[in-house]
Amino acid sequence: MAGYPEEKVAKEELTSLRHQHLLGLATYGADEIELILDTARQFRSVLERPIRRVPTLRGITVVNLFFESSTRTRISFELAEKRLSADTINFSASGSSVSKGETLKDTARNIEAMKIDMVVIRHKSPGAPHFLTRCVDAVVINAGDGAHEHPTQALLDMLTISDHFESFRGLNVSIIGDISHSRVARSNIYALRALGANVTLCGPRTMMPVEIEKMGARLTHRLDEALEGCDVAMALRIQMERQEARLFPSLREYHERFGIKMEHLERYSDLLIMHPGPVNRGVELASDVVDHERAVILNQVTNGIAVRMAVLFLLAGSRGEITDDA
Ligand code: CP
Repeated sequence: MAGYPEEKVAKEELTSLRHQHLLGLATYGADEIELILDTARQFRSVLERPIRRVPTLRGITVVNLFFESSTRTRISFELAEKRLSADTINFSASGSSVSKGETLKDTARNIEAMKIDMVVIRHKSPGAPHFLTRCVDAVVINAGDGAHEHPTQALLDMLTISDHFESFRGLNVSIIGDISHSRVARSNIYALRALGANVTLCGPRTMMPVEIEKMGARLTHRLDEALEGCDVAMALRIQMERQEARLFPSLREYHERFGIKMEHLERYSDLLIMHPGPVNRGVELASDVVDHERAVILNQVTNGIAVRMAVLFLLAGSRGEITDDA
């Protein structure tokens, strides 16, 4: 940066991403996140038209490699690709040659031999998308890698928050639940901190990674402390499959101590409730909280399509206007 006054750098408007892939938000700056959000807002207007399709990615082939189950992310990426007129191929580990012992590297190289331009990957192993970038030339987008990152979830969360607040700077966001196993928490912390929000993490001690506060977040193990002065409460899914590990005594007790209930909505009258889904009703959130007008869980899902269109568009390297001209 020598020779560049800081204010000059800050004022320059970004028109394309510096990154070639979206592996996580740890290295994405506020300007890149803002560019994705601005682009997503433009695509959102496309999605409100009678014909919700643009030819932006015509001729681009995208493969969705899902080695782990997904409802929202998978459908959302597929819809985003179709709305951009990309050619889309869906791959599931079950029913593929992975079940015959084929490695991720060989699966990816075989797929690339079929002239794929972009790969969207969800995998149980942290770092699987990063590994893929060393095996193939295609653009790689992380759709969730183990407990590491879920960047498009955090980006759609940022878009949803920005629909309700003028600025991220000074906004108080509490992330509540199983922080240790949460890729959503990690990506959200990176994005929120980059944009200037204050982040509080709340959950049982057994679900809090060691030294997590080094990511710039405040820690508490008391729900009321997390909700006091909070603008946005983001509840995380309790991963039932990890109940065997006995990270807390029972779901009933978890709900009692960390579940957001109607009494909280009454006490904290401006609190916005978010959840990445799938929700365990009666555990992270009381069922009537899930259906409350201040819970924006389905808005998050809707915003996911526009955000993924923006990510695909920007990473495809297109500099064109968002248009429906053929
Ligand atoms: N939020 C999220 O990643 O949901 P899915 O697991 O259904 O994709």
